[in-house]
Amino acid sequence: MVRENSALLPFGKRAFYYVNGVRNMTENQSRILAISRGEMPSLTELAGLIAGYTEEDRVFAASLARETADRIFGRKIYFRGLIEFTNYCKNDCLYCGIRRSNRNAERYRMTEEEILNCCRWGYQAGFRTFVMQGGEDPYFTDERIVKIVSAIKQEFPDCAVTLSIGEKSRESYQRYREAGADRYLLRHETANPEHYAKLHPPELSLENRVRCLHDQLDLGFQTGCGMMVGSPFQTAEYLAEDLLFIKKLNPQMVGLGPFIPHHDTPFRDEKAGTVEDTLFLLSIVRLMLPRVLLPATTALGTILPGGRELGILAGANVVMPNISPSDVRKHYQLYDHKIGTADAPADSYQQLREAILSIGYQPVIERGDYPKEAES
Ligand code: 5AD
Repeated sequence: MVRENSALLPFGKRAFYYVNGVRNMTENQSRILAISRGEMPSLTELAGLIAGYTEEDRVFAASLARETADRIFGRKIYFRGLIEFTNYCKNDCLYCGIRRSNRNAERYRMTEEEILNCCRWGYQAGFRTFVMQGGEDPYFTDERIVKIVSAIKQEFPDCAVTLSIGEKSRESYQRYREAGADRYLLRHETANPEHYAKLHPPELSLENRVRCLHDQLDLGFQTGCGMMVGSPFQTAEYLAEDLLFIKKLNPQMVGLGPFIPHHDTPFRDEKAGTVEDTLFLLSIVRLMLPRVLLPATTALGTILPGGRELGILAGANVVMPNISPSDVRKHYQLYDHKIGTADAPADSYQQLREAILSIGYQPVIERGDYPKEAES
């Protein structure tokens, strides 16, 4: 029998209380629980949750999210070898350090042989996924991309290849897929068209971005969308729109990291996103899409030492260390103070492995594909 709040504990700002040992939840916490049962709150409710969560709500979400990830993936953390193979870009996104109008960026592109050498180093180190990420560089025609993807798949048939090279036609995506590419990362950046227009030059549209994502899914790519947390002009309502968009798209991967200003962009004086908001959103995404492949991003590790480990404890299950050669990595600066730019591949990788082991998680040598739905 429940007695009249007799066990209400006088914990000051506590967001929950116990009644005869039963924990009573706040409204935010019951919303979080509903999300984990597959019931999405309305746009207004979600925006309220994002704007009004407390520290305890965040911890509550993180523990549910971590339980969910542990149930599906055990304590395994998947590693992806990130190869930043070109920093030439024809786009002019206002937030990004390698935007075309940044004359101060020293441009480079890696050769096919250099890319393959990265994979060779990565393979012996234990990587079974290679992510080719670059600006939208017209030098890398479909033909060249197909050639590189085929060469990687031929030499490393047990590895997955992920492309992260921007907006392309459906035909291009199809050619990449036929060459053996398994996955494609293309963050949607924001699901609100007005917000999209404030972050991007006029020639880019949310509509085309979403078309790309649908084409990738149709063609059988494991597909990733995502957004920056705390990007300029972002509101709780926009983030709520992002979450509803992600839920509906139902991608296999979601990339989520804090916005960090870059000194050579129009957003140089803007504030960075916060660790707390990023962690909270990671947890919500894990609860919305239990099987999603969710990286603890380099950007999160950049705004806080140990940020990626916190990301894992909030529900992330993937890390993507940079395996590009030391001489190019300092030039792939999407934002300021990016970690690892002065490291040799082996060092940043080893440090990250140890950090993961130290929080009780297990770096594994596996492709780490999107898991199939459980039978029962
Ligand atoms: N801060 C954080 N993330 C950024 N990205 C680009 N610029 C920044 C920045 N200044 C992210 C974008 C892009 C991904 C490759 O990197 O979301 O999709």
